[in-house]
Amino acid sequence: MPVFSKHRLPRDAGDSRRGAALDPAQSRPLTDLRVAATGVRKTYKSGDREIRALKGIDLHVAKGEFLGVLGPNGAGKTTLIECLEGIRSPDDGDVRILGADAADAREMKAVRGRMGIALQHSTLPPRLTARELLGLQARLYASDVRVDRMIDLVGIGDKADQRIEHLSGGQQQRVAVAMALMGDPELLFLDEPTSQLDPHARLALWEVLYAQRDRREASVIITTHQMEEAQRICDRVVIVDQGRIIAEGRPKDLLRQHFTARRMTFLLPMAATLDLRALNARSAPAGNGLKRITLRTERPSATLVELGQTFGDQLSDLSVEEPTLEELFVKLTGTPLEGEAA
Ligand SMILES: Nc1ncnc2c1ncn2[C@@H]1O[C@H](COP(=O)(O)OP(=O)(O)OP(=O)(O)O)[C@@H](O)[C@H]1O
Ligand SMILES: [Mg+2]
Repeated sequence: MPVFSKHRLPRDAGDSRRGAALDPAQSRPLTDLRVAATGVRKTYKSGDREIRALKGIDLHVAKGEFLGVLGPNGAGKTTLIECLEGIRSPDDGDVRILGADAADAREMKAVRGRMGIALQHSTLPPRLTARELLGLQARLYASDVRVDRMIDLVGIGDKADQRIEHLSGGQQQRVAVAMALMGDPELLFLDEPTSQLDPHARLALWEVLYAQRDRREASVIITTHQMEEAQRICDRVVIVDQGRIIAEGRPKDLLRQHFTARRMTFLLPMAATLDLRALNARSAPAGNGLKRITLRTERPSATLVELGQTFGDQLSDLSVEEPTLEELFVKLTGTPLEGEAA
């Protein structure tokens, strides 16, 4: 099965190529903002219950910025993204999309063609083929749209003439992404676009998104439960929990802010002695006459030097773990990640 066509491998999110464009509201002129939302609130009524899905969200997305919206199931991500897309009306707050007021249908009509949307639960018409569906959508756009190119881009060439109902979940997800890309958008909303993609297709989708940024300075708002993905591709993430943004920033900055200690592990001979309590360390047998020491330290470099001086060649298999966005997510939301909850 072909994957999305190849452009180049994505670089890590912290690199300088993207760093410069990505300081959101602070120093940016308003014209560089693709999305500006303030005080967004949304309450659903379910029977006689009220679900306060969004409790006052402020969010800006700059030109060329990749923003990751993270959060546990039910946190309000889809509600938020739909309010930002202008397809769901907030009860309160102000949303500007590409300069248009999301509450004004006429203004929104003028900018719709510059946006691409892949919903979390998009039900594609089952009886149409991907080619027919994309062809229909192409007619909505005044721009010169190439259906074949989109089919190729998302790697569904050999399935393009089969009915959508006969495509796998991941293949349907590719069709949904192709639809979002159809109008050559400057602003892309992708709600869990990679949840059913295999690793090749996921990598290839990132490349497609980077290419769209290179061509159009496209901004991408993406939700995902894959923390590694968010850390890798997003310039900035917001963590939403119970309808509020509880953390926001570049992944690296957030990690630096929340984790000062590093976890270090190494092997020592069983006979070697060290003061576990003083080092805030744990020891476990590791076989072959060795024990594995695990410790947390606020001063990884100094600890390394001290260990080297004390144990020299006796010390082996040493690693210092960098904190991950997944750890931060669990720490802040107190919720195991999706799939681990059961
Ligand atoms: N149409 C609706 N009617 C009533 N309640 C809703 C509706 N849509 C969402 N909700 C509720 O609003 C809250 C936020 O839902 P939302 O779909 O925005 O969460 P999410 O963060 O996208 O979750 P997930 O990670 O599972 O996609 C949840 O409690 C959900 O049950
Ligand atoms: Mg959702």
